[in-house]
Amino acid sequence: MKTEHHYQKILVTTVKLAKPAAYFILLLLTYALGYLSAPSSSTFSPPPTPTRIVSHSNSSTHHTPVLHLSNSSRTHLDYFRVTAQCSDPIHPDIVRPTLLRYLFNGTSPFTDFPPEHAARRLRRKRVKGWGSEGAVFENLIRRVKPRTIIEVGTFLGASALHMAELTRQLGLNTQILCMDDFRGWPGFRDRFKDIQMINGDLMLYYQFIQNVVSLNATETILPVPFSSGSALIKMCEMGVYGDLVEIDAGHDFYSAWSDINRAFRLLRPGGIMFGHDYFTAADNRGVRRAVDLFAALHGKKVHIDGQHWVIESS
Ligand SMILES: C[S@@+](CC[C@H](N)C(=O)[O-])C[C@H]1O[C@@H](n2cnc3c(N)ncnc32)[C@H](O)[C@@H]1O
Repeated sequence: MKTEHHYQKILVTTVKLAKPAAYFILLLLTYALGYLSAPSSSTFSPPPTPTRIVSHSNSSTHHTPVLHLSNSSRTHLDYFRVTAQCSDPIHPDIVRPTLLRYLFNGTSPFTDFPPEHAARRLRRKRVKGWGSEGAVFENLIRRVKPRTIIEVGTFLGASALHMAELTRQLGLNTQILCMDDFRGWPGFRDRFKDIQMINGDLMLYYQFIQNVVSLNATETILPVPFSSGSALIKMCEMGVYGDLVEIDAGHDFYSAWSDINRAFRLLRPGGIMFGHDYFTAADNRGVRRAVDLFAALHGKKVHIDGQHWVIESS
């Protein structure tokens, strides 16, 4: 009887202890599992090793920037790829009518120019550029004999008008697409006080059109008055490609970098991309840094022609 009572007591105590013990074991298990699945020092990926660009000059006219990349940097570069879908190229003969229809509802921007409200604010001809008649233009136009030139950054049209004159002299049938938002840059008014404004809207676009009209280049030149970011992508989607693409818009690293990456996709096979201000006071922080990084990533040579950089598609 006494033994039976003793066993009963043990049983009650065991049942009483079983619940907290189960909780305790569960707690232990949870902790152990959490600890095991947390990143340990050996599974955590460190930030990518900084990328270095080294320029190997093998002649005074070109050099090949080389990029030293760790494996983790290579994976991270994937994020920078331009992903817009490009169409097959349309024939050069239909580039102008296609853009006239798409951008201008089928009416040429030169028709009935200048409108009354702008006429009295324009000069017959007001052209100003920077390195806009450099030897590179003639060198490349003679070599490539372009049917389509895409200029990214036009301003008052100095370089575009120079190219129009060169193609005319060489008897080429060329369209020059002038992509510019025609906003200049903040503070630009300090240097160009004579370019007037209407309600804060700059007359830069109108003065550019006026210059093209005055120099009889309306059949060769067509403005694409939009920001390079959206317009370059749209050209690609529409299948508008260039034999020559000139980059001369924003000169900070990020602007140049995005223009170069988007514009390179617009080159026809055998086409050439080039741009101004490879050597400037910004040294290796602006255009040159973007050009060298692009060339290094794509295994391209950077040719130098005066102040201009030149990269070939193939
Ligand atoms: C240096 S000027 C171009 C000069 C011209 N190539 C020449 O030699 O006569 C730069 C031009 O790029 C344009 N620009 C700057 N950033 C732009 C952007 N994101 N999209 C379109 N145009 C831009 C400005 O409005 C300006 O007219």
